[in-house]
Amino acid sequence: MIYELAALPGDGIGPEVTTQARKVLNKAAQKLGFTIKWRDFPFGAAYYLAQGHVLPKGALDDIGSCQALLLGAVGDPRVPPGPLERELLLALRFHFDQYLNIRPAKSFPNVPLPRPLGPGEKLDIVVVRENTEDFYMGLGGLLGPQKTNHEIAATRKLYQFKASLTATLDPELNGTFSVGLLTEPAIRRIAKKAYSLAVARGDKIVHVATKANALPDFYGYWDRITRQEAENFPEIKAIHINVDNLCYQLPRDPNGFGVILCPNLFGDIVSDLVSALAGGLGLAASGNLGDGLAMFEPVHGSAPDIAGTGKANPLAAILSGALLLESLNLKAAANLVERAVVGYLAEGRNLPRELGGPATVERVGELVLAQMDQYEP
Ligand code: IPM
Ligand code: MG
Repeated sequence: MIYELAALPGDGIGPEVTTQARKVLNKAAQKLGFTIKWRDFPFGAAYYLAQGHVLPKGALDDIGSCQALLLGAVGDPRVPPGPLERELLLALRFHFDQYLNIRPAKSFPNVPLPRPLGPGEKLDIVVVRENTEDFYMGLGGLLGPQKTNHEIAATRKLYQFKASLTATLDPELNGTFSVGLLTEPAIRRIAKKAYSLAVARGDKIVHVATKANALPDFYGYWDRITRQEAENFPEIKAIHINVDNLCYQLPRDPNGFGVILCPNLFGDIVSDLVSALAGGLGLAASGNLGDGLAMFEPVHGSAPDIAGTGKANPLAAILSGALLLESLNLKAAANLVERAVVGYLAEGRNLPRELGGPATVERVGELVLAQMDQYEP
């Protein structure tokens, strides 16, 4: 069996960490008798600066002809925040309708936790982040003292959204506004995913992040639909919790948290918080999934300050690779990769620089590869 996979290494440490992840995936393939054909896509800051556009015409369809995408990171100090994130990363998520953003945060051996676990405690949280709506729609504009007219439009797989707004700011003020959007089918499908995942894990509780106290029309609607959807899962109790309270409770006592369902913006924030609880972004993997092309990326971003220094930790990219294999139903290969990462960390020698060890990004890759020989797939 041949799998054609897209690689988009991107910016900063993206190329270094995805190089290691690719080696590990290639080895898993070799051990389990399948073949990976990588297709490289050069997009990111360098491409944008040289070409003047983020993506050429047809690029998304080209990427979409692959079976999955491994992404490194986007973001570069030479490019102001915005174009790369919106026209590359978010464009991929929206174009392929990757509505499920899954971000596991597990404790690993020899990875120190900011709040050490007591006996019998475990940290095994998954943030299920809605990935297409909320304030990530990116809709809005600038306001001024003169009347302004705004035609707002966005296309998603589920719908086309259009709105017109006439606005004035009186007295003479300047400002900006942003329109968030939550739709019933988008809430239902992500809630279904979160509750099904909890059932598959054998959990009894799903925490649903909200902020209905401050925005009752908006997040109250999220609550209503997520509650309705929970009725189809009698084995699950959905506990709605304001996201500020959630951010307070999690560091104090992460026990009792498993699946956390979040709208897009809160999911972005909460997933960084839980990855800190699990020992840092260096191990935080993620998958962006829908009914089409799925994309896998470490949560850590491009970390331009350490690019090229060897300090990057490739484990998040490698674990994202394991999620990629799982999405293609290559469970044995995914397990092999995960066990190799756990086995390497458990030895506690030659840890990544990020974890206080001496191993460079490349050396960590080699050590994970070496572990793979020790396990029967
Ligand atoms: C993430 C990142 C992105 C996001 C940025 C780079 C746009 O923070 O994947 O968590 O906000 O989704
Ligand atoms: Mg983020």
